[in-house]
Amino acid sequence: MILRSISAMKEGFKLLPGYFGRAQQESLLQDVRDILRAAPFYQPTMPKSGQPMSVKMTNAGALGWMTDKQGGYRYQARHPVKNTPWPPIPDTLLALWDDVGGYDAPPEACLVNWYHGEKSRMGLHRDQDEDAPDAPVVSVSLGATALFRLGGPNRRDKTSSFRLSSGDVVVLGGKSRDFFHGVDRVYPETSTLMPSPQRINLTMRRVTRPDRG
Ligand code: SIN
Ligand code: FE2
Repeated sequence: MILRSISAMKEGFKLLPGYFGRAQQESLLQDVRDILRAAPFYQPTMPKSGQPMSVKMTNAGALGWMTDKQGGYRYQARHPVKNTPWPPIPDTLLALWDDVGGYDAPPEACLVNWYHGEKSRMGLHRDQDEDAPDAPVVSVSLGATALFRLGGPNRRDKTSSFRLSSGDVVVLGGKSRDFFHGVDRVYPETSTLMPSPQRINLTMRRVTRPDRG
């Protein structure tokens, strides 16, 4: 009932609980380990203040999202420390995009967010650094359960909170593509996929406008 009311309010928003079962979660975690060999986690910092974020990040895909004190929020084709191209987006995630994204061009970026401690969180924000606003944002949760908050197009709009468990998929499509969202906390001892309280979030986005000829 809660879910029905969230999707009624939040047009274009989808929560698909348990989309990936345990065996697929383990296989996705192995995909993440493979990504990390080519592209280790880096420490993102806030534009201007240089304040470190409480999550670490890396990417797969032609473009990766990053932020640091000097350059601010942006996409770039190379790892900020290794200066090598990001590894490819895993096939399982490309198949997920095709299944739930409803978009006729592939994602270009897969951001890997690592919530590594009990203090890891993600402040309320909108995903606004992409040039393809008609494409959805598709994300997968792995590991510890998170408290996710979804608002509206304005920072002060009313928000709803709900838990995301390992294997859940979220789609921010339609109007909800521009809605504020964030992660208030992760809950320890809620998953055996990784040592508690770790959580991995994989977020796919289309960054450039597809050339539809
Ligand atoms: C994000 O919005 O970048 C992260 C969402 C999540 O961790 O579930
Ligand atoms: Fe986001």
